[in-house]
Amino acid sequence: MGVKFRNVGVIGKYMKKQIEHLKRVKNAVILAHYYAPAKVQEIADYVGDSFYLAKVAKQSDADIIVFCGVRFMGESAKILNPDKKVLMPDPSADCPMAHMVADGVIEGMRKRYDDLAVVCYINSTAELKCKSDVCVTSSNAVKIVKALPNKNIFFIPDKNLGSFVAKQVPEKNIILNDGSCPIHARITKEQVCAEREKYPDARILTHPECDAAVVALSDYVGSTAEIIDYAKQSMAKEFIICTEEGVDYRLMTDNPDKHFYFPHPHPCCADMKYNTVESVLAVLQKEDQEIIVDEEVRRLALLPLERMLGLAK
Ligand code: 13P
Ligand code: SF4
Repeated sequence: MGVKFRNVGVIGKYMKKQIEHLKRVKNAVILAHYYAPAKVQEIADYVGDSFYLAKVAKQSDADIIVFCGVRFMGESAKILNPDKKVLMPDPSADCPMAHMVADGVIEGMRKRYDDLAVVCYINSTAELKCKSDVCVTSSNAVKIVKALPNKNIFFIPDKNLGSFVAKQVPEKNIILNDGSCPIHARITKEQVCAEREKYPDARILTHPECDAAVVALSDYVGSTAEIIDYAKQSMAKEFIICTEEGVDYRLMTDNPDKHFYFPHPHPCCADMKYNTVESVLAVLQKEDQEIIVDEEVRRLALLPLERMLGLAK
C-alpha cells in the first residue's frame, strides 16, 4: 500500500480512472520529474531525474508522451522522438536558466579557441543545443567532460554545475558562463549551517546547481536521482537536502524511518508546480498542448543529445 505524506492529498478516484483509461486507449505514457507535485508523481508511469527521463522518452514505444516537467524536458523528448506526440500539461512551465546564454557568446568563444567543445547542460533551449557539441545532465557531466578529447570546454548555461565539473576534472580548461538556477542560487551557506546547528548528525546532500560555498559544506553532491539513491543506501537517519523540495515525496516514501530537512525558505520551483493532475487529465483528453520543434532546429539539437546518450553509457 502506498504511504501518504504531507502534500499528497487523495487523488479523485474518478480522475485517476479517467487518466488510466485515456492512457490505455491512446497508448500514452506519463513522465514526471522529481520536482513535479507529489500527486503528479503518484500517477506517473516513470519518475526520475533529467537523464533518466530523456532515456525513457527515447526508448518508449508509446504514441503519446505526457511530460510533467519544464519546457526543455518536453522539448528534449520531442527532439529524440519526432514521430511521437509530446504533450505538456502546461507548456508555459519553463526553466529560466535554459535561456541564460547571451547572444554571440558561443560564436565568440569558438573564434578564441581552436579546439573548443561547447558542453551544454540539458537545462537549455533547443536553439542553444543546436550550437553545442554535446549535452550533459547533472548525473553524467563529469564523466562526459572527462571523455571529451578537447582541452578547452565552454560550459553553458550553469556556472555552478560548470564549476563543480571543473573541480572534478582539473586537467581541462573549463570556461564558465554567467547563468544559474534562481531556485538553487537562493540556497545559502548560512541557511544550510542553520539546519546543521539544529541537526548536527544530519548528512548534507546537495544538487550541483547550488553555489560553490554550499557544495563545499556537503557530504554528497549529485543529481536528484543520485541524492535519492544516496539517502536510501545510507545508514544515517537525518539529512539536510539542498535542492528543490519536490524530492521530499520520494525520499519520504522510500525511507519512512528517516528524516529530511530543507534549508529555509524551502527551495521551490514554481514552474514545476504548474503540472497538476487536473492538467494531465485535460491534456490527455484534448491533446492540445503539443510541443512542436522546428525540423531544422530538431535535427541540429539531436546531435548533442545523441552524443550524450552515447558517451554516458
Ligand atoms: P536533475 O537532472 O538532477 O533531475 O536536475 C534537473 C533540474 O532541473 C535541477 O534543477
Ligand atoms: Fe530550472 Fe532551477 Fe527549476 Fe531546475 S529548479 S527546472 S534548474 S529553475
